[in-house]
Amino acid sequence: MPDTPHRHPARRTVLAGALALAGTGALSAWSTAPATAAALRAYDEQYRPQVHFSPAKNWMNDPNGLIHHNGTYHLFFQYNPSGATWGNMSWGHATSPDLVHWEEQPVAIPHDDEEMVFSGSAVFDRDNTSGLGAAANPPLVAIYTSMVKATGRQRQSLAYSIDDGATWTRYAGNPVLDIGSDNFRDPKVFWHEPTARWVMVIALSAEHRISVYTSPDLKSWTHRSDFGPSAATGGVWECPDLFELPVAGAPGRRMWVLIVNLNPGGPAGGSGGQYFTGDFDGTRFTADPHDAPRWLDHGADAYAGVTYNDAPDGRRILVTWMNNWLYGEKVPTSPWRSANGFPRELGLRATPDGGAALVQQPVAELATLRRTPALRIAGRRVRAGATRLLRDAGQTYEIEAVLRPDGARRCGLEVRTGGGHRTRIGYDSGGELYVDRTASGDVGFAAEFPAVHRAPLALTDGVLRLRLIVDRSSVEVYTGDGTVCLTDQIFPGPDATGLGTFAEEGGMHVERLTVWPLRSAW
Ligand code: FRU
Repeated sequence: MPDTPHRHPARRTVLAGALALAGTGALSAWSTAPATAAALRAYDEQYRPQVHFSPAKNWMNDPNGLIHHNGTYHLFFQYNPSGATWGNMSWGHATSPDLVHWEEQPVAIPHDDEEMVFSGSAVFDRDNTSGLGAAANPPLVAIYTSMVKATGRQRQSLAYSIDDGATWTRYAGNPVLDIGSDNFRDPKVFWHEPTARWVMVIALSAEHRISVYTSPDLKSWTHRSDFGPSAATGGVWECPDLFELPVAGAPGRRMWVLIVNLNPGGPAGGSGGQYFTGDFDGTRFTADPHDAPRWLDHGADAYAGVTYNDAPDGRRILVTWMNNWLYGEKVPTSPWRSANGFPRELGLRATPDGGAALVQQPVAELATLRRTPALRIAGRRVRAGATRLLRDAGQTYEIEAVLRPDGARRCGLEVRTGGGHRTRIGYDSGGELYVDRTASGDVGFAAEFPAVHRAPLALTDGVLRLRLIVDRSSVEVYTGDGTVCLTDQIFPGPDATGLGTFAEEGGMHVERLTVWPLRSAW
């Protein structure tokens, strides 16, 4: 049986609990008391990310309803308002002016007696096509999977906001799309200008298909096509996204990207995300031929990645859930569990085969958190062995490095070292980037956690160019000009603040390296 949320062993137990608790929700409009000021200030717990969003308390999974509206980035997310494991799924909410500084808001769409509020998206219905707002005050509309508690059926429903996303009301005519399936979820909706109508991509999870639907009004939906199975099918397909981007290096050319998350079957075991490039004509997505899956991220902790609607200046910004269903409910954090990956700007770059590859970089706003560099190196040889560069680089920093393997079999950087802990970000001369978190800190909470994660990588001009974001409990690696990313959680002790280099079976040359301590975003 495929691993669907309500059949996931741990999640099934929680669902049973949620069923027993049924009877607490409201059906139409609601308001929830804001989180207390104390809870919102408590960002100093061990492992609490300083430059990533995490809720003050309780469980979070997928980012939902990502939309930029009236100068504000909204982040909704799968949230359990009353526990630190999966259950009672509702849409939590946070807002930000700049994708860096987040303010947690009251729960936006709570679960109720009948349904859990699973993943989905949000649109600005500028022309009030849905009639849920007014011409003078068009609504924001959330399209989410309504998981019927009594039966497990997954139907698509709407909620709307006429106060800029502050409060949400369920549409009285819900559900708007029900095909009788219990594996039909995570609608991503966007306005398709050439056909002047709404497009939805949604996963038929167990069949490894992404269906395309269209609608004039967000309420009535017509099935147009299916994509898949294709590439990675080692788990259920979830949380799709579809968008168009210009192709750098091919003037005037634009291509479409389909993101398909899957669980398990990811590149590092468990949850992962793949992408396809191709064409979309308003009804059907056609993928460029590719033999192997193309991964959004080669680490273990970048799942459910989807992008913002209506981001300014044509930006395409991806946010992931920085966790993995393999062990997500066991990570040793409290009273919160799970953070998001740092928001990424996506682009496409032309490839020699006439296609394109996805390129990703942390959003430029990251630079606003940089302090004065704690270290700058230009030209230093590293002999075989491990060398400490900084005794105290802190717990949260960014690194840009250009490293030249000089005979070393394996070489690279060691971050968050101390007290026997270290995380290695290295290059293997066999042609791989890797992150070794086997000795990264607390690794004992799940057998699958301590591991080495790898990505194929060809060096350009013989050098490894790394960009790293290191936080209290994560490492994000960008290399290969943005074509290769690797995100891993780590749980080192608070004193593991050392930073170093290592080289095995040969030397390495540090051509350039800069370390910027990052200011806390809280
Ligand atoms: C992905 C997912 C989605 C579902 C949600 C439930 O992590 O399984 O498919 O909508 O989580 O919380």
